[in-house]
Amino acid sequence: MAKSANSSWWQHGIAYQIYVRSWRDSDGDGIGDLAGVGQRLDYLESLGVDAIWLSPTMPSPDTDWGYDVADYCAVHPDLGTSSDLDRLILEAGEHNIAVFLDIVPNHTSSQHRWFLDALSGPNAKYRDYYIWADPKPDGSPPNNWTNYPGDPAWTFDEKSGQYYLHSFLPSQPDLNWRNEAVHREFDQILNYWFERGIAGFRIDSANALYKDALLRDDPPADPEATAKGEEAVIYSTRGPEAHQVYQHWRQIADSYEPGRVLLGEAWETDYERLAGWYGRDSPELHMDFNLPFILAPLRARELASVVEATLAALPPDATPVWTASNHDMGRLASRWCQGDRRAVKTALVLLATLPGTVVLYQGDELGLTDVDVPAAQRRDQMSLAMPDQPSRDRCRTPMPWSREPDAGFTDGPGIPWLPLGSHDTVNVEDEAADPHSTLNFWRTLAALRSTHRLGAGGPATTLLLDDQVWCYRVGGTITMLNLSAEPSTRSLQGNAAHPVLAATDPAWQRSEVVDEVELGPWQALVVEVPRDGR
Ligand code: BGC
Repeated sequence: MAKSANSSWWQHGIAYQIYVRSWRDSDGDGIGDLAGVGQRLDYLESLGVDAIWLSPTMPSPDTDWGYDVADYCAVHPDLGTSSDLDRLILEAGEHNIAVFLDIVPNHTSSQHRWFLDALSGPNAKYRDYYIWADPKPDGSPPNNWTNYPGDPAWTFDEKSGQYYLHSFLPSQPDLNWRNEAVHREFDQILNYWFERGIAGFRIDSANALYKDALLRDDPPADPEATAKGEEAVIYSTRGPEAHQVYQHWRQIADSYEPGRVLLGEAWETDYERLAGWYGRDSPELHMDFNLPFILAPLRARELASVVEATLAALPPDATPVWTASNHDMGRLASRWCQGDRRAVKTALVLLATLPGTVVLYQGDELGLTDVDVPAAQRRDQMSLAMPDQPSRDRCRTPMPWSREPDAGFTDGPGIPWLPLGSHDTVNVEDEAADPHSTLNFWRTLAALRSTHRLGAGGPATTLLLDDQVWCYRVGGTITMLNLSAEPSTRSLQGNAAHPVLAATDPAWQRSEVVDEVELGPWQALVVEVPRDGR
């Protein structure tokens, strides 16, 4: 298993999300697979990746592309076999890359054997694995809870005359975590995968496990509070009892050698709540994704304020997670940078220099943008249920490996499951050959995280912040970001000569800066603090 020599790699790591279906198709059926991940381990190593998080790999009818799990202890046949996964864990370990799986504890697929049994009636063995409630006297759902797309979160089961709860699609019934048997099932699932050698889990919808026991109505949404990012859904999710689940999961993770790692997707707009998932009285998640960060615009004051608030809220030894793209929210090159390649490099500087762990999404290192998938080719049912939102398919399209007609994604004859983007303009092969590409710039940053401990050795201390520029120090390095379309000239607040470690503008390379720094639009610079520390 990977990382045995350094079990705390995750406190200052580079993790990389692989959307397996769209990474590399090794068997020509148009769908990326586990063997395809294995074919690109050298590439991942060249990005400085410590760990890969594989988007769902378990058998699933794919109404939510694997986030509707039909069997927690097996491999989806579209993605390969159990031995393909074993081989990947082993080979990734040889590249010193740890493998994380995605685990979905909030809900199963409606095709999971537990739910199929539960549907047989109120006395079924697994009935109480799910959340059932009687209709209101007028036959309507038990309360006003809505699911993720905004529809009623309850579906009526004609046979038993009861409703079941689903925070997402009706094909994703919520598990009942008030049933101890569900806890025991997940203990077994965790141990099963940890014994198979995975390094940890990304925990889907980690804060959603518990709902109000009395099933009280959520208060009506207050538009002012919503605009401030405050939550109106207080009864239908985020029950505090989930903390005990993760305290227990942490004990399980810690009982292995090396310890296994829990990375939560407990999206919180409130920093204290975010900090809470790391554990207050006893440890819970090792890391949790940071919603305010991914939602912030690429602007100096907004980002500085999110980073400062995050670091102030987290316990001093906690590991913050910085990610700006994923398979739900879109790719940073589009969301943050509107395709401006200068801004992409600057965004990568930000991710690489903040204290803690960075999670890249596949293609971030290329400046890959979202793809406008034509309506007829869209595959994401959740997005189809939310027609006023951009489709999540836009950020799930295949990885462009080359400018060949199939983008090097598949050797055919299968048609890629989602359309390719403009791989003739952005692809790995071309960027690898260009010394000034985004890809090679990321590789430089990643190498500096090892050689010069970028993003380690202390909190981020702001040295200068205005509408255009954010300059901060972390450990022995200072980063200056010009997050604007105007040039900037700013002082480093000292008169020592600072060797330049990395710069988005190649003209800066191998130079030194003393005090005043002139940065072009969307440019960034990382310098070393001279030995005397000024
Ligand atoms: C995953 C989504 C998924 C949802 C339900 C999310 O947070 O990232 O892709 O649709 O959980 O499992």
